[in-house]
Amino acid sequence: MSIKSKPIGIFDSGLGGLTLAKAISLVLPNEELIYFGDTLHAPNGDRSKETIIENSTRVIEFLLEQQCKVIIIACYTISANAFATLINIVGNKVKLLNAIDPLVEYITDTNYKNIGVIGTRSTIESNVIDDKISKINKGMIVSSMATPLLVPMIEEGYIFDEISSVIIRDYLSKHDLKDIEALILACTHYPVLKNQLNKYYNFEVDIIDSVKILTNMLSKILREEGLLNDSSEKKSNKFFVSDLTLHQKVIAKMFFEKEVSLEIMNLWK
Ligand code: DGL
Repeated sequence: MSIKSKPIGIFDSGLGGLTLAKAISLVLPNEELIYFGDTLHAPNGDRSKETIIENSTRVIEFLLEQQCKVIIIACYTISANAFATLINIVGNKVKLLNAIDPLVEYITDTNYKNIGVIGTRSTIESNVIDDKISKINKGMIVSSMATPLLVPMIEEGYIFDEISSVIIRDYLSKHDLKDIEALILACTHYPVLKNQLNKYYNFEVDIIDSVKILTNMLSKILREEGLLNDSSEKKSNKFFVSDLTLHQKVIAKMFFEKEVSLEIMNLWK
């Protein structure tokens, strides 16, 4: 099999990364995708770095076994806490991308003076995003805040209603995020809140569409490295999860915007 026709691996802590999988499937329809959502260990947002590294190592090994030509970590919590370790495991076997670097590259190229970042506790407490931005653009003020209620809120379907509006207002009105010009959504789940966030800010703060930035970056890399699948024969996408409940099927449909056929693959058995 030529390297071009090998699949793209997408790794997430759960199902939120299906938003990215959906975007990639639309922009790169020729590519075969292998998605792995580690629902057995989700959510990761409050877990320790050690646990995140331990669980994600096994998933990366699995995606390597699937002969992926490139693996993208859709999850910000895993990108922030485990990428440095995972890249050593992967070595030069395959290109490993994370969710944070493309955002940092995008944001440090803008003229914003004051930006906000929201994400899970484990992402924000790692300080990885602030550190990476400050290293490149010393003049940019970065204010980050953990917004841990947003993942369960979204998974329970509170997205554009009074409950989500109150929770969002309570978080975003905090002093930490005063006077920002742009808000980075450093979590797989948050892009579904874009309309609600624009409403809160009255369109005066730019909400950074991370899914679009990651998808564009992936297309660019595949094009530049001559890895785009140019054969007309495309195998069907596969969606693996390490655990599956009825509600997770509903969540998957919400993020992928249509029914997804999820296959259980418990890598720890
Ligand atoms: N995928 C996680 C992230 O992007 C959010 C869900 C979780 O906590 O596992 O940070």
